[in-house]
Amino acid sequence: MKLMEIDGGRELSGTIRISGAKNATVALIPAAILTDDEATICNIPEITDTDALCDILEFLKVKVNRASESIVIDPKFMENAEITEEFSKKLRASYYFMGALLGKFKKAVMYFPGGCSIGARPIDLHLKGFEALGATIKIEKNKYIVEAEELKGANIYLDIASVGATINIMLAAVKAKGKTVIDNAAKEPEIVNVATFLNNMGAKIVGAGTSTIKIEGVDHLSKCFHEVIPDRIEAGTYIIIGALCGKNFKVDNMIPEHVDSLISKLEEMDVNLEIGSDYVTILEKNKPYKATNVKTAVYPGFPTDLQQPFTVLLTQAHGKSKVNETIWENRFMHVPYLNNLGANIIIQNQTATILGPTDLKGTSVVATDLRAGAALVAAALTATGKTTITNVEHILRGYEQIIEKLTNVGAKITIKEI
Ligand code: UD1
Repeated sequence: MKLMEIDGGRELSGTIRISGAKNATVALIPAAILTDDEATICNIPEITDTDALCDILEFLKVKVNRASESIVIDPKFMENAEITEEFSKKLRASYYFMGALLGKFKKAVMYFPGGCSIGARPIDLHLKGFEALGATIKIEKNKYIVEAEELKGANIYLDIASVGATINIMLAAVKAKGKTVIDNAAKEPEIVNVATFLNNMGAKIVGAGTSTIKIEGVDHLSKCFHEVIPDRIEAGTYIIIGALCGKNFKVDNMIPEHVDSLISKLEEMDVNLEIGSDYVTILEKNKPYKATNVKTAVYPGFPTDLQQPFTVLLTQAHGKSKVNETIWENRFMHVPYLNNLGANIIIQNQTATILGPTDLKGTSVVATDLRAGAALVAAALTATGKTTITNVEHILRGYEQIIEKLTNVGAKITIKEI
């Protein structure tokens, strides 16, 4: 087990360079097996979720060649095997192998996926989509056997604009016979990135990034080269850290439009920002900031993945703020720990009410999930004194070189094995 120690209360300044998007990468790696040749993907983040997916590729006898931030995936000699429970449970995104294997071999066998415990996280919409394409689904305990004689294009309406279901159905449909239409599709930039990747291989997908995605099935997918988009959640997390403790704190190599909802909230709070074409700089602190209310929503709404770090910023705002979480039913697990650090937050149903500003003081806390962990890092950097965070494996699943990036801007942060 690993823990982080953070000596907080320091002013941070300098530049943080944003890595490739985790949520795009975890779909692109399984998607790569759809090629009949090989796929090269660059700007891959070096995070443990990437390692876990590469382990699954190797288990399926896919040739994987990793270099710094790039990967060549060659599935020419791959075998379609049952993905073990251990592999399936390592991360949520293992479920993209369901769509990809179904699309390539018309059969996928794997277990219910793992991932952060932020809600029930059903996969019924993914399965309904596969069924609409002609697959049958057998569930034995928590093992899923999904297979089809033939996959045929279909009209699929998603009851919820689910990111995972949208991508998984796209993966299963690219080689199906005829045309598939996904209505009420999710619009997240990661979906556009995955569709672009598949189109680079020869798929015919239009409308990714809108609510209606149309896919004309093709027989073959060929060689391609692709780049992962910058991680908007990593960028948003560092922007929030900059607003908490930064001066001339630049978050670089990002796409500001992807975090428009966050930027609007920060402007409303009076955070002093400079927004460039590929960077956001936090110039100087205007503390205490103004309180605000935020409600999480599907893209382009305020991302649930930034809700937890954003709550930390609201502890430094003057007055009463509210955070309403609408996507996940169990996403306030960071709050008791923020209160231990000195915050004043009450949770009622799916809304957290934050009274600020409050001084935060270092103590021992636990990262219960990835973004809760990021929130605790933000809080620990703001707090005076030393904070110890345990279970930091969650954080390392999604933030590349977090120790090095924060150390470079003046944070005192170490990680050690216990
Ligand atoms: C993705 C992101 C995650 C983010 C979430 C919402 C990845 C790897 N993860 O997760 O970081 O928090 O989007 O932006 O990209 N739902 C169903 N049935 C389904 C699928 C989803 O009811 O079959 C519900 C979920 O319980 C949730 C909502 O739909 O309430 C949104 O989930 P979804 O968009 O699918 O999230 P993920 O793709 O798992």
